[in-house]
Amino acid sequence: KIEVVTTVAELRARIAEWRAEGLTVGLVPTMGALHEGHMSLFRQAKMMADKVVVSVFVNPTQFGPNEDFDAYPRKLEEDCFKAKMAGASLVFAPAVEDMYPKGNATLVDVTGPIVDCLCGLARPGHFRGVATVVSKLLLMVLPDVAIFGEKDYQQLMVIRRMVTDLAIPVRIEGAPIHREVDGLALSSRNAYLSDSERANANRLYKSLWQAGQDILGGKRVQDALDWVADELVRLGFGRIDYLELRDAETLAEMDRLDRPARLFAAVFMGKTRLIDNLPVEPR
Ligand code: PAJ
Repeated sequence: KIEVVTTVAELRARIAEWRAEGLTVGLVPTMGALHEGHMSLFRQAKMMADKVVVSVFVNPTQFGPNEDFDAYPRKLEEDCFKAKMAGASLVFAPAVEDMYPKGNATLVDVTGPIVDCLCGLARPGHFRGVATVVSKLLLMVLPDVAIFGEKDYQQLMVIRRMVTDLAIPVRIEGAPIHREVDGLALSSRNAYLSDSERANANRLYKSLWQAGQDILGGKRVQDALDWVADELVRLGFGRIDYLELRDAETLAEMDRLDRPARLFAAVFMGKTRLIDNLPVEPR
């Protein structure tokens, strides 16, 4: 069975032992309800460091008042098994009071163009919650490397910005999106989908991919995006939070493909909010 610690003191004690042996440490922050996407990050971390710490913490500060904090799946037993299977050495599963001690009054707020778009607009305060908890986790573990999935591409960019700006001594690595065979990006929230919703959910990826091909083939960006929006409505998707082509580095909006870009989408399927993104790179 994998070792589980819940306090910062226990976490630091174990990591100090590893450090004394000269071992390197990787960190993969998660909110649990682990799936193969998370496990691909653990395996990548294991290739880059001797010991892998997985944090499992459903972070209240990154959920909006009408979001799914209470409903978010919690399955620590299964998570521990999966973490071990994928090469992790330690699970850090703190209580909310350990992460946010009584009287806690410090937030980390990344500002500017990287947060003023996409999920930063659709979910006000979300990235403040993410940056706050991730900075805490990085300072608690002080890993050599921390891994984040491109599934949450904007989150990866926000964390890179924060780590640079605060001079946190850690290497941040991105990991490719892990998908189901039909194209749907794995997500803990996919568990909310009904069977019929699940059957159509992969069409988000398929239509984004088609739009990417069309843009590469010379189609006007706006025409390609309009086509995706029509397609999603036709396929039974609900509200579209955003559907945009942006610069892969700066996240600046692009209306034609003159440099490496990414297509980004957030759209509801029933009550479930799905996000996805993919690279569109001119030759
Ligand atoms: P969570 O949604 O649990 O995701 C944890 C990590 O797994 C993130 O880096 C995310 O991008 C990655 N991930 C999720 N699904 C993936 C997939 N299909 N392919 C590849 N990577 C995937 O993201 C969070 O938690 C939180 O915001 C967190 C960073 C832990 C801060 O609370």
